Formats: sequence, structure tokens, C-alpha cells
Amino acid sequence: MIDTTTLASHGPVIPVIVLQRVEHAVPMAEALLAGGVKVLEVTLRTPVALRAIEVIANAVPEAVLGAGTLRSAADVRSARAAGCQFGVSPGYTRAIGTECREAGLALLPGVSTASEVMAANDDGLMFLKFFPAVPAGGVPMLKALYGPFPDVSFCPTGGLTPDNAAQFLALPNVRVCGGSWLTPTDAMEQGDWARITRLAREASTLRKT
Ligand code: 3PG
Repeated sequence: MIDTTTLASHGPVIPVIVLQRVEHAVPMAEALLAGGVKVLEVTLRTPVALRAIEVIANAVPEAVLGAGTLRSAADVRSARAAGCQFGVSPGYTRAIGTECREAGLALLPGVSTASEVMAANDDGLMFLKFFPAVPAGGVPMLKALYGPFPDVSFCPTGGLTPDNAAQFLALPNVRVCGGSWLTPTDAMEQGDWARITRLAREASTLRKT
């Protein structure tokens, strides 16, 4: 099982991907990798998501592939069976944490309050998704959480853009951030893979300021 902290070692942004068509899966993944983005989170929000994950796992093995929007233990099992190395959940439940440990799936669980941070920490999880980052308080909230939780780090996701991502990345408790802006629906519908590569390349240059 990979250590979720390694997800941050491949670049500053994890793309949050919503695939509408299986045939978009491989060109999308290849376009992101061509732009230097190797860690991919495919959300389980569409009927084709699990099939798309299987296809990417087989055709693009150099991708570090994860499933997003895990909401239940059954989602964890499906993601693992489809070939994922990690999972991301919008919130945290012990059921999901237990299933991930048993299935060998690294988990990046979502939190947005101090109590949720403590619940995840109780179960040994110290690297967390801060979701939905901007509506839940953004940079000031992460600064406030750093006081009591200096040993906890975050991947803020939800409302991030190329314009505000650097402010999040500058925080000492942020390792990496997530966002859907690298894979716009219209670019995928138009087969504009060059645009996705360009967005990935630009995202790869974001740094802690
Ligand atoms: C999500 O899970 O929807 C992510 O937080 C993506 O949010 P974004 O579309 O605001 O990047």
C-alpha cells in the first residue's frame, strides 16, 4: 500500500476528474502525464467512472491512480478492484477507514472542522483533504487549524483555481492541492487534449510562494 504522503511528492496539484465517457479516459490521462501531472483522482460520480479507472490502470500504468468521492465501504472495494492505489473521500467515516486498511487502499479523507481532524487522527490519519476548501474557510481556516494541529497536513480541494492555489500551497500545513480546473468538461468533449496538457503544465509550475 502506498503512503498517501507520497501523493504530494509528484507535483503541487492533484486533478479531480469527472469522466463522462470511457473513451476519454486514456487520452485524458496521457494528456495530464504529458503535462507533468502523474497523480490522478477519478471521481466515482459518473456511471463510467469505475470502468474508466480500469482502462487507465491497464493502459497508463505509470499514472498514480486514485478514486475520488468514496462514500461507503462498497465504494472502497470497487475502487480497489478497479485498480486504484489510493482513495479520496469527501468526509471521513470509520467504516471507510477500516475498509481501506483491509483492502490495502491508501486513504486521503476529507475534513472541514477541528472535530473531524481529531476523528481522523484517532484512526491514524494525519494527511487529510480539506474540503470544501474555499467555502469551509479557505486559507484563514487552514492557518487557524495549524495552531492546534501542527503535525497534520492537508490537501485543500474545492474552489481552488490557478489564481488562488499558490496562496494555499504557501501554508506550512499544505502539501499539495486538488482541483477540477485541469480537466474541463468542454475540453474533454472537444477532444482538446492539448489544452489539458497545457493546463497540467501550468499547474505543475505552481509552487509554495
Ligand atoms: C470536488 O470534489 O468536487 C473537488 O473539490 C473539486 O472541486 P473544484 O471543482 O472546486 O475544483
